[in-house]
Amino acid sequence: MAASEPRNLTPYQHVNELVGWTPLIRLNRVTDGIRTPVYGKAEFMNPGGSVKDRIGWAMVEAAEAEGRLRPGGVIVEATSGNTGLALAMAASAKGYRCIFTMPDKMSLEKVKLLRAFGADVVITPTAVAPDHPDHYLNRAKAIAASTEGAVMANQFYNQTNPEAHYQTTGPELWAQSGGRITHFFAGAGTGGTISGAGRYLKEQNPEVQVIGVDPVGSIIAPFFHSGELGEGQPYKVEGLGNDKIPDTLHLDVVDDYVTVSDGDAFRMARRIVAEEGLFVGGSSGLIVHAALERAREIDDPQAFVVAVLCDWGEHYLSKQFDDEWMRTNGFLKPDQTTVAEMLAAKVDSLPELISVPPSTTVRVAVSTLSANHVSQLPVLSGGECVGSLGERELMVAVLEDPAVLDEPVETVMEAPYPVVDQAADSEEATRLLLRGAPALLVRSEGMLKGILTRHDLVRSLAAGR
Ligand SMILES: Cc1ncc(COP(=O)(O)O)c(C=O)c1O
Repeated sequence: MAASEPRNLTPYQHVNELVGWTPLIRLNRVTDGIRTPVYGKAEFMNPGGSVKDRIGWAMVEAAEAEGRLRPGGVIVEATSGNTGLALAMAASAKGYRCIFTMPDKMSLEKVKLLRAFGADVVITPTAVAPDHPDHYLNRAKAIAASTEGAVMANQFYNQTNPEAHYQTTGPELWAQSGGRITHFFAGAGTGGTISGAGRYLKEQNPEVQVIGVDPVGSIIAPFFHSGELGEGQPYKVEGLGNDKIPDTLHLDVVDDYVTVSDGDAFRMARRIVAEEGLFVGGSSGLIVHAALERAREIDDPQAFVVAVLCDWGEHYLSKQFDDEWMRTNGFLKPDQTTVAEMLAAKVDSLPELISVPPSTTVRVAVSTLSANHVSQLPVLSGGECVGSLGERELMVAVLEDPAVLDEPVETVMEAPYPVVDQAADSEEATRLLLRGAPALLVRSEGMLKGILTRHDLVRSLAAGR
């Protein structure tokens, strides 16, 4: 049923009034098996399709107010695409011309989009050092210096950027979560989003954890942890990460910084589309991947985790949503198998899923394990996994105190097993099992239908699957 509450009741005066108050939406299927609630801040719902819409108009109006941008002026910027689009929207509404420099790793869709808004787009080489004259930032500065009436928006140094998020993104998150937000996950390109929204949230509740997520190859996370400015390595995720520390990145409000690979980011972006119906880009996949990892560790139904869904997936149809591009770049194994295929490959003739309810006595659980020659036993309630029983742990509990045999298993059970969808690729299952989960439950058509243990994984690997 679509939204019942009327929205957009009063008319808007111009495109900028459509920016902001983007929805906060619960993630339901990619969080299978995770008890910690995780929400996405749907910044792709902004009119230009990204989080950058919040800074475009603000930077233009600041330049006008400072007398730097006058009628007939030209807006120049170095952009991965989304800031360019936000600036181009403001320029269209206000009658300015735009010139953007963009590294050649950015998608063609973004270049075409900016040209559709009438902007001139100058493509620059991605793999050059920050001080190289062809670096997109230096090219933009040179163009601004040599163009009559031109102004650099300067998103990496312009404090209007984080301020816009302090004024809008932060207050929205606080209001939409009813002040219950506990963890805020965002990445940094300029750092405006994480710095502005993070500062606001910390002012409301200093306990809120602000966690930065960086692509492997960017220098930000290593700098956060070591204080040293390292050498960046090329990576394919667009919009996040950097080869320098921007002025607009205020690390004093950040509590931790984690890194995620291109492959994990792109595969998660595809999962968010396939399992949540939300069409997002790679940087959203990167942030959600990290948020799910931490949410699984936190394992707290009272927590409230938010991940920024930065932009609209259509910008990447020729990239992570193109299987050939994914395979060519090694992000999708040639003959990628699915979890369903791993399950089907199990040789044992056991019924699909052997489980016990929480009230079962330990004695019955022990005999269920040995009668079926299994080492892992999920505890299910209402069709959901509420706990797990490992043969070894159960034996230790019984040997330490035999009286436990007549206790219900809910008194000794461990955390629930992670759940993966039967359509998920085997890489996801392998990663979870290698990360410590003794087993995984497999969901198919909404029901928990199977279990995969590390033993099954080793056997399928040994069989060359
Ligand atoms: C797709 C995408 N995600 C995330 C970001 C990061 O936002 P910020 O510059 O506020 O750190 C950007 C910035 O360009 C982006 O384009």
